[in-house]
Amino acid sequence: MIVVAIDGPAGSGKSTVADALATALGVPHVDSGAYYRAATLAVLRAEVDPTDVGAVTAVVGRVVIDRVDGRTLLDGEDVEDDIRGATVTANVSAVAAHPAVRDLLLVAQRSGIARDGGVVDGRDAATRIVPDADLKVWLDADVEERGRRRALQAGEPERLDHHIADLHRRDAADATQMVRADDAVVVNTTGLSLDHVVATVADLARTAAGGS
Ligand code: CDP
Repeated sequence: MIVVAIDGPAGSGKSTVADALATALGVPHVDSGAYYRAATLAVLRAEVDPTDVGAVTAVVGRVVIDRVDGRTLLDGEDVEDDIRGATVTANVSAVAAHPAVRDLLLVAQRSGIARDGGVVDGRDAATRIVPDADLKVWLDADVEERGRRRALQAGEPERLDHHIADLHRRDAADATQMVRADDAVVVNTTGLSLDHVVATVADLARTAAGGS
């Protein structure tokens, strides 16, 4: 049984690293951000103001969000592609900022961990979702590098400035929910390849699990 928490800002690579590490360890990857994204899609579909705590909490309390085989289900409908779009991304921080929403989604997020463990990625996985994790990692990278990664992912390398500005906005909007655990190992991924980062975190996980 091994539980790993990987936190960090947008574009730090946590989701990709968490996915690769979970595969390497043979445990599920719990993408905690996907729950906030699905909740945000439900709020937008209900045409509710994302800053209206009462209305948002009522919508999120009514829906069922699941993750199955890396896909996100909202009341049984596969919304994985919809939740990655620009409209959800622009509104998710406002929805995630409501403590009542965070309480509502916590049980579902924790239920993704299997009996033999899991790798949870997010903003507060190490402090809130799995505070007893065997290993806590804080992934970071310079905002310019995070912007380059996001621009490439979006197929828009020529819009680098736009993606960097968007990350500054997300970092500010996520400031209260982004919590680094005191006992997290900080890994700055600036200039490092994905393979290198995955190997580094896998070594830390083997050590944490009592291996060599
Ligand atoms: O991958 P990216 O960094 O773009 O975001 P994500 O992991 O999909 O998370 C989307 C949003 O959900 C974040 O910007 C936060 O507002 C929120 N979130 C959170 O508040 N707490 C978490 N544990 C995970 C995500």
